[in-house]
Amino acid sequence: MTSVLQQLEAKRRQARAGGGEQRIAKQHEKGKLSARERLELLLDEGSFEEWDMFVEHTCAEFGMEEQKIPGDGVVTGHGTINGRLVFVFSQDFTVFGGSLSAAHGRKIVKIMDKALELGAPVIGLNDSGGARIQEGVESLAGYADIFQRTVDASGVVPQLSLVMGPCAGGAVYAPAMTDFIFMVRDTAYMFVTGPDVAKTVTHEDVTPEQLGGADVHTGTSGVSDLAFDNDVEALEMARRFIDFLPSHCGLAPPEHPTEDPIDRDEPSLDSLVPIAPNEPYDMKELIEKVADEGDFFEVQPDYAKNIVIGFGRMGGQPVGFVANQPLVLAGCLDIDSARKAARFVRFCDGFNIPIVTFVDVPGFMPGTAQEHGGIIKHGAKLLYAYAEATVPKVTVITRKAYGGAYDVMSSKHLRGDVNYAWPSAEIAVMGPKGAAEIIFREDARDPDKLAERAEEYRTKFANPFVAASRGFLDDIIMPHGTRRRLCSALNMLRSKNAGTRGRKHGNVPL
Ligand code: COA
Repeated sequence: MTSVLQQLEAKRRQARAGGGEQRIAKQHEKGKLSARERLELLLDEGSFEEWDMFVEHTCAEFGMEEQKIPGDGVVTGHGTINGRLVFVFSQDFTVFGGSLSAAHGRKIVKIMDKALELGAPVIGLNDSGGARIQEGVESLAGYADIFQRTVDASGVVPQLSLVMGPCAGGAVYAPAMTDFIFMVRDTAYMFVTGPDVAKTVTHEDVTPEQLGGADVHTGTSGVSDLAFDNDVEALEMARRFIDFLPSHCGLAPPEHPTEDPIDRDEPSLDSLVPIAPNEPYDMKELIEKVADEGDFFEVQPDYAKNIVIGFGRMGGQPVGFVANQPLVLAGCLDIDSARKAARFVRFCDGFNIPIVTFVDVPGFMPGTAQEHGGIIKHGAKLLYAYAEATVPKVTVITRKAYGGAYDVMSSKHLRGDVNYAWPSAEIAVMGPKGAAEIIFREDARDPDKLAERAEEYRTKFANPFVAASRGFLDDIIMPHGTRRRLCSALNMLRSKNAGTRGRKHGNVPL
């Protein structure tokens, strides 16, 4: 018996040692934590239960039968985050570069299947050289099995990817199909084809960081949601982030009791919107001033900054905020902002998170770049997402709501549950100046007359009263009372059950 126990202990030690001290030291030199150190930070202390520690690869090619390390390059299992169950995998770069063998793939699939069965989030920590080259198609099959599980789990349990090292080739599609991707600056990169192939085919000289580093994917491509300076920061934020989400689509997101009074007035909001209609202001200030304790977890802050998305709580209840940002492109909707917000709205809808929308939108971005880039289809994504969403939808128009963009931004017509406007709201087909130039063409050469006409249009339409008189707004509210009115609306909507329509799925513009 003693010898068996010793054997077990020895095997465990071997698995825990991964690729050995030297390789772990190399990992640390690069500023990266080891696979197990990462899990320790991510999960509640002592909660991690490891599975499949003794799994080894079965490859007998290229001398691989001589090289077996228990665990085979990925640490898998389950633990808790603030007491709630999550399933995890953490690729170990020190073991065959974290590359994915058939056995490595099976370990990941096992925890994903169990997460789906039990209704618990899956968090993947990616740090891998990709498909295990020695295993050929077996490792490609392993990826496909993970892809299939990712799609099966999509909309059922939240899936979060933390890319903390290389993630290249077909491997990128595992995180790509999860709900959110966090990356670490300087150590993480994602690309379908690497710098060498780029050099051969397109003659571009780029570093991995320039091609697919964290800043590129959070600022330029929008592939990743957030970038962090190091592993520790990324893991801490992942813990905070998961707290906003339900464990599965059949639950409401977890509430956090708040000391912040739900009827708190915020007098400074009365002067948030500048008197001059074209003067910008920071919409994030509004979100921070109405959210519980001013806590706003912004997602994709560096991409398509003309729209702001993220999570917060109102009266303890998690909500998703979507807001036009007048500071960037005057808050216009364009291709990138429509795509960014559409996926967020669909995520919130899929996971029972009410959506609070703040509107100040002068319309869609004009020009050939947008039209030729397909703004019609991309803008439709956001329209479709709002129209399809059956979670509570509460909207506040703070200033402009012009043209088709008014309809898109969670309007009453898309079954907005509660639609408010501030007294400063202007709801019209377009801005007064543009409107006057079109409908009073005969006055085009007389600037004074045109200004008079524009003023006439403003008085008539560029206010919230016409929309309110038609019932398209439920009320015109004082800015300082916005938190109170939102909390009250969200509370009233708690029992909303709009059901789902009986069909396989709609055909969202893609
Ligand atoms: N299959 C098998 N082993 C792999 C591997 C893979 N896909 N990727 C890396 N490894 C191994 C390396 O052979 C090395 O083994 P060793 O420690 O026994 O020498 C170890 O992992 C670390 O790799 P190394 O190249 O030294 O690390 P690096 O930080 O310098 O470079 C990469 C990292 C990912 C850029 C580089 O390993 C690489 O290009 N890997 C291949 C990527 C690829 O083409 N994958 C297949 C397509 S998806």
